[in-house]
Amino acid sequence: MVNEMLPEYTRAQLALRNGQDRDEIWVAYLGLVYDVSRSRLWRRGNHYEHWAGQDLTKELQHDAPHTEHVFDNFPVIGRLKDPLLSGC
Ligand code: HEM
Repeated sequence: MVNEMLPEYTRAQLALRNGQDRDEIWVAYLGLVYDVSRSRLWRRGNHYEHWAGQDLTKELQHDAPHTEHVFDNFPVIGRLKDPLLSGC
């Protein structure tokens, strides 16, 4: 799917998918929203001291021991409104 056709979500909508209130667990990275609900490493929305339901662009680029390729197996389900487009 072309990214422009994906639904756009606000940070408030993203925050509702933090793994605590609903079954859906979403993480935003470089303007795209990924659904990581089926990951065992994001259970309850928590991943090595990071929480889902947020834009984790900076955290992935500065704290993570892995690259963005960890998202390869997860679907992009939307675009974030007013996203961070760089982790700097
Ligand atoms: C202290 C920071 C972090 C640590 C120690 C950490 C550690 C790990 C480890 C060990 C894995 C599995 C092995 C691998 O693919 O390398 C993993 C997978 C993953 N990480 Fe992180 N990570 C961190 C931060 C982040 C951040 C900030 C994000 C999101 C922006 C993220 C997203 C993911 C995703 C989506 C996966 C794939 C999960 C799966 O395959 O089920 N990680 N992480």
